[in-house]
Amino acid sequence: MAETVTPSTPALLASLDPLLREWLPRQRWFAGKGRPVTGFSQVAETELLPSDGRVGLHHLLVRTEQPPAPAEAGDCYQLLIGVREALPPRLAPALIGHVPDGPLAGHTVYDALYDPRPAEVLLEALRTRARIGSLCFERAPGREIRDGLAARLLTAEQSNSSVVYGDTFILKLLRRVVPGVNPDLEIPLALAREGCARVPAPTAWLRAEPADEPGASYVLGVLQPFLRGATDGWELALRELAKGEDFAAEARALGRATAEVHTALADALPTVTLGHSRLEPLVDGMTERLAAAVQAVPALRPYEDGLRSAYTALADLAAEGRTWTAQRVHGDLHLGQCLRAPSGEWSLIDFEGEPARPLAERRLPQPPVRDIAGMLRSFDYAAHSATSAAEGWANRCRAAYCSGYAEITGTDPRTDPVLLRAYETDKAVYEVVYEARHRPDWLAVPLSAVHRLATSDPT
Ligand SMILES: Nc1ncnc2c1ncn2[C@@H]1O[C@H](COP(=O)(O)OP(=O)(O)O)[C@@H](O)[C@H]1O
Ligand SMILES: [Mg+2]
Repeated sequence: MAETVTPSTPALLASLDPLLREWLPRQRWFAGKGRPVTGFSQVAETELLPSDGRVGLHHLLVRTEQPPAPAEAGDCYQLLIGVREALPPRLAPALIGHVPDGPLAGHTVYDALYDPRPAEVLLEALRTRARIGSLCFERAPGREIRDGLAARLLTAEQSNSSVVYGDTFILKLLRRVVPGVNPDLEIPLALAREGCARVPAPTAWLRAEPADEPGASYVLGVLQPFLRGATDGWELALRELAKGEDFAAEARALGRATAEVHTALADALPTVTLGHSRLEPLVDGMTERLAAAVQAVPALRPYEDGLRSAYTALADLAAEGRTWTAQRVHGDLHLGQCLRAPSGEWSLIDFEGEPARPLAERRLPQPPVRDIAGMLRSFDYAAHSATSAAEGWANRCRAAYCSGYAEITGTDPRTDPVLLRAYETDKAVYEVVYEARHRPDWLAVPLSAVHRLATSDPT
């Protein structure tokens, strides 16, 4: 309730507090599920459209209080609060609530991204490289934005929120934000500098530099060209499976696209040699994740020793003096992160990495096989979601993807089976925990991979 808010909470946030406590945990992109929000602290607040007009717009960065975590460790969320006298029916799904008191008393507040007018304010600010309060709207040199492009919110299920402008641009607004260099901007910018055409180049982006956090910069969103008529790889794979069609030619093209991105990333950003000492913490991380997974999901117990052998085999190779090259990678690659344009060209998107992991970890160089393992698991997932068992379909995709990758880099990932098995195992273990927690119906999919990986010692 509002009276429990600390006296230092600004009046606007204090008046929204009870509404946000109800609304925020219901959002798909809310990361702190399962623990109630007991309050908010403000990181930054910026008025983008005055509330005394027909439509007001407030940009808010708020940190949630979710005990037992200490308040300063709460997650920071980006909220765009629309303000109207009353909501037209088309905006009903965006409702946050009616404000009883404070500066917006008597008004209705809602998620402004559903509303074209406030969403267009963001594009206009990027177009004009505006600086408003703590918000910095920036645009890449030489990249123009036409004015007057109409906004529509993308309604696909996603972990952030994206607005499409006139089928020309797409603005991804990050919902949970952290200070520091964000790989979702850093990597596409580096690839654009490298001339890599497999990733849409950022046109513009917005950041916050909150006055109360000197030196901190939060990347809040990235605008990039919209790939008109593109289909994501997951949808396309399921469509082909439903028709009984093979996907190997597309998988090969995806292997080539992945390899092109990896090659450009290795040129654009630092690489390191992974020998025994650098590999050890990576293997320790895998081993720890396995131990935690076995605790959480008893169905893993019979496979524990077999799975651990995937990691010890890798550690043994390193101890014998084998080395690998680590570089910046995608970090969360799967079919849903690949878009196929009507021309047949594939693009990779969403370089945020696994959002649950700390930023510093997501930006570390890693063996490129991390991404390859992600894609191989994704073919398996697609095959298992089909009505008829499609083991052969998945195997053909996996082989074609590795061949495509080798066509560009000269190295087939299957020629390093110990490394590939360790990374596939780590991914499958992660999937088991995820499915056990969120989608028990799907648990059989990673468990069948676990069975294969635990019993397939390639050494
Ligand atoms: N450049 C683009 N062109 C067309 N659609 C895109 C583009 N970028 C993203 N999308 C669409 O937006 C969805 C979410 O984008 P993504 O970057 O993966 O966000 P999230 O972090 O929320 O997963 C994609 O699955 C795709 O459908
Ligand atoms: Mg995504």
